[in-house]
Parts: sequence; structure tokens; C-alpha cells
Amino acid sequence: MDTLRIVGGNRLNGAIDISCAKNAVLPLMIASLLTEEEVTLENVPKLRDVTTLRKILEHHGVDCRTGTEDIEPTKTRNRISRSLTLSAPTITSNVAPYELVSKMRASFWVISPLLARCGEARVSLPGGCAIGTRPVNFITDSLERLGAEVRIDGGYVVAKTLKGLRGTAIDMPKPSVGTTHSIMMAATLARGETTIKNAAQEPEIMDLANCLNSMGAKIEGAGTSTIRIYGVERLRGTTHRVMPDRIEAGTYAMAAAITGGDLLLRRVPEELLSGVIEVLRMAGADIECTSDSIRVTCDKTELIPCDITTAPFPGFPTDLQAQFTAMMTQAEGSSLITESIFENRFMHVSELCRLGAKITLKGQVAKVEGKTHLVGAPVMATDLRASVSLILAALVSEGTTTISRVYHLDRGFEDLEYKLSRCGAIIERITDSEIE
Ligand code: UD1
Repeated sequence: MDTLRIVGGNRLNGAIDISCAKNAVLPLMIASLLTEEEVTLENVPKLRDVTTLRKILEHHGVDCRTGTEDIEPTKTRNRISRSLTLSAPTITSNVAPYELVSKMRASFWVISPLLARCGEARVSLPGGCAIGTRPVNFITDSLERLGAEVRIDGGYVVAKTLKGLRGTAIDMPKPSVGTTHSIMMAATLARGETTIKNAAQEPEIMDLANCLNSMGAKIEGAGTSTIRIYGVERLRGTTHRVMPDRIEAGTYAMAAAITGGDLLLRRVPEELLSGVIEVLRMAGADIECTSDSIRVTCDKTELIPCDITTAPFPGFPTDLQAQFTAMMTQAEGSSLITESIFENRFMHVSELCRLGAKITLKGQVAKVEGKTHLVGAPVMATDLRASVSLILAALVSEGTTTISRVYHLDRGFEDLEYKLSRCGAIIERITDSEIE
């Protein structure tokens, strides 16, 4: 397994092109199951989750072809934007096996298009994960409301409909991103009108709705708490450009703040990060925005402690909680970080403490005492966002930090070492063969 070695102490300066969003591209790829025609996604990031999902879709009979387009050759590197064309003229299997689904939870969402298109789907329950139990009951309940018979059989959810799906009213117990994606996909091929109340409002929901609408769906209200879907007979192919990754952008904004640096984040509009920008300003960062870029500068000596509570969009994203916890270790005073979305999302705390952070945990609240002098040490990545919080801490630690199990990072951060090292970070990947 690869390891990252980081020597801390450098301020980050420069520009970073923000990649397209992992959390948008996954449901968009899954939506290709809804049509016999080709769906082309532009600017698809090179991530392990994309490769994993591609294998899963191929298992269902989707033909996946990568195209490339040069968009910004530089002296040191040809920056390539990839397009991915998916076409599913025939679904060859409506079973998503455990070996595949257990690799990536979001792949459970294939249940909706498989059910809508084939009338039956058999999808393995994904199981727990490092950040909590992460049930799928909202999705299965919603499919039942849409007229499917749903049962659990040998670790699989089996969903079946004899007469096709029919529109209905669904009031979600709490906003869930995956459930909102799933209902939109199923309801678009259902008979009649479906209303989702208390829907997730994340921008990725809007991206999926826009793509589905360009395929001929009739979805209104995506991005608000009430979404209306008017079922259609069939969907056609489309070409869709994936939205920017707000979590990647927020992470690099915090990298600028924690190192007292100056980073221009290109190709990301501020609306995607409005709640986060507000908090970063309160923490002492200077932020200037144009229509598609965000510049973050910060005088490290002036980081101010801030209390945050994670919340559904437009609140502070749970996917930036670990990074912000790392950042608060460098604030002058104590801050309270409350995690309200996932019950076990503090795996990074013990690793940050290995670097010298002073963080105490009480239930869902972490108290961070700043400012601490961090010293490099070997640490271990535990999940995607926790891993990158260790990188932020390592950037300001004295000496060398080695982070093992970096395959978590490869799931969701495109070209991370390249992007950071171009801005002055000392970061290198040591591959298995070099360790041996
Ligand atoms: C998505 C994101 C993930 C992000 C999360 C919250 C993707 C690929 N993943 O995950 O990065 O951290 O949104 O913004 O887009 N819940 C249930 N039952 C269900 C479904 C959800 O109780 O059937 C609960 C969850 O345990 C959690 C809350 O609802 O407490 C929100 O989770 P949800 O929005 O569904 O997360 P995901 O879609 O899995």
C-alpha cells in the first residue's frame, strides 16, 4: 500500500484547478442505466471511486468508453480532461453483488434505475463503514412508496414491481443525498407525479436533475427542499459537464488558511461554498471571489477559533469537518466541532493527536485546544476526508509525517500531490515497491 511523506513548514502559494465533483459524477454515471442511448459526461475526474463504479456498471451491461480532450497544456504537464461515454442498450444483469457494492456505498443507488428499467433489482446491502452504520432504509422505504415490493434475501435487497412504478408523495425523515438521488432516478420513469418533501438540497442534486432533464425528464425544484418529478415514458442520451468539487475546493481553501498561504482556486464558483467561506472569514482568512474562482489568503498568526456544527447544505458540510478540525489546531484558543450527520466521524482525532493536537471527544462534539505545535509522526488514513485532514496537519507539522493507507485519498482527490507540490508543499508518494 502506498504511503505519503510530507515535510511540513511551507506556506502554500499558487493556483489550483479544482476538479469535477466525485459526489456528482457517481450518481450521473448511475443515471446512464436509465436510457438505452449514450450519456457522455465531460470532465470526469480520475478517481478510484470512478473506476470502481465503472466496473460495477460494466457488470450490468453498460459500455464505458473514455475519451480525452487536452484543455490546458502546461510546461510541466499536459492537463487532460476526460470524458466518459456510457451506453446501456441492454441491461445484462440486474444483480449488484456484494463483492462490488461493498467497495463503494454509493453503488447501492443502482437499485433505482435497475428497478425502473427492468422491473426488478437485486442489490447487495453495502454494510457499515468507518464513519457510521449508514443505513439504506430511506431508499428502500421510498421504493416501496413508489409501488415496489421490497424484501431482504441473503444480504441482498430485492425490489420488484409487476405493474411498474407509480408516482407518490414522499416525506423524508431527514434530508438524505443518496435517497434524493435514488428517488429522482426511479420516479423519472414512474407513472404520474412524485413529490419529495424534505429533500436534500446539495448542489450535486441539482447537477443530477439538470442532467436527467436534458435526457427528457421533468424535474422541478431540485436544490430546494421540495422536488417534483413528472414521470416520462423514456429517457434519451445526453452530454453533460460535471460540476466542480466543492469539497476539494473547501479542503484547499483550508490548506491555504492553515499554512498562512495564498491560493487561487480556479474553476469553482463561490455559491458552492458560501457557508464555508463565511466560517473561513470568521477564522481570519481573507477571501476574494470572482465568478469562477476563489482566492484565499491568510496570516497564519491570526487564526481565530470558531465553533461549527455540520449540517445539510447550505450548512457546514460533514465532508469538511475533519479538515476544519485540523485547521482549528492552529487557532489561538479553543473551538467546538459538532458532527450532526454521521455518528462516528471522528476517526481522524486520534491520529491528529499523534501529531500533538489537543482534542477531546465527548459524544458528537470535539473540543480542539489551539494553538498546538504539531510534530511529524507516522499516522494512518481511516477514511477519505479524515485522510486529507492529516495532510493539512502534516503541512504545518515540524519535520516529516508519513501517512499510510492513502488508497482512501485516491478515492476522492484527483492529482493531490501534484496540485499541492506545485504550490510549495513538500509531499511525495512512496509506492509499495520503493518500501520493499
Ligand atoms: C452523501 C455523500 C457523502 C456525504 C453525505 C452527507 C456521496 C457519494 N456521498 O452520502 O460524501 O458525507 O452525503 O452530505 O454523495 N440515512 C439514513 N437512512 C438512509 C439514508 C441516510 O438514516 O437510508 C442518514 C445517514 O445515516 C445520515 C443522513 O441520513 O445520518 C444523511 O446521509 P446521506 O445524505 O444519505 O449520505 P449519503 O448519500 O450516503
